[in-house]
Amino acid sequence: MSRQSTLEQLSQQSPVIAPSMLKCDFGNLAEEVASLDAVGSQVLHWDVMDGHFVPNLSYGALVFAPLREKTNQLFDAHLMISEPAEYLDDYLKAGCDCITIHIEAVPDPTELLLRIREADCVAGLSLNPDTPLEKIAPYLPFCDLVLVMSVKPGFGGQAFIPDSVERIARINELVGPETIIAVDGGIAPETIGECAAAGARLFVTGSSVFNADDYGSAMAEMRAIAESRRTSLSS
Ligand code: DX5
Ligand code: ZN
Repeated sequence: MSRQSTLEQLSQQSPVIAPSMLKCDFGNLAEEVASLDAVGSQVLHWDVMDGHFVPNLSYGALVFAPLREKTNQLFDAHLMISEPAEYLDDYLKAGCDCITIHIEAVPDPTELLLRIREADCVAGLSLNPDTPLEKIAPYLPFCDLVLVMSVKPGFGGQAFIPDSVERIARINELVGPETIIAVDGGIAPETIGECAAAGARLFVTGSSVFNADDYGSAMAEMRAIAESRRTSLSS
């Protein structure tokens, strides 16, 4: 799908709940994708970890590329890796629709963000909870999406860091409505509403979806809360 179509889809379907595949059953990856298809999930969030940038290893393009042919859901790759420049092409070739890199991984993300856009992909920039917002400010014009980490990256199942709400609100003041603000970590029915009210439109949720018996109801419940709290600015 083209970058423009992806952005339109994300905007039209906002608020979007994106299951974080880090928390799914890796022994049944294809079935997990099919279960999410069945409940109308639109976006799969793939947490790529290299054991350097974060103290955990997950999967890479080789693992999720074959699933690309089995679903129409958007593929959202969150690269928690130290050398995004070296591996970017693998994720572009794997058919990702969105690729997010971390500000902490590169001295200047401009060239990489432009490469992602030139490949007709949505370009995302993420920042860790302890990274000052000023670090990303110069690069916002090159971002289609800003991913606010609301936990320390590396693991699912952590508690939401409350300061993240204020960080979302401040980023919302810096970007126009065309830039999607996403939030990742500890998103649950108890935390999603305040993030939506602060301006987030895409919500990455691992435990809250995969620990539920019914993925569809868990996603619908969180989406309804986000919908009821969304700001007019983020519509
Ligand atoms: C953390 C990942 C998240 C994580 C979310 O490094 O980026 O996507 O899997 O999981 P929960 O929703 O359980 O915090
Ligand atoms: Zn993530």
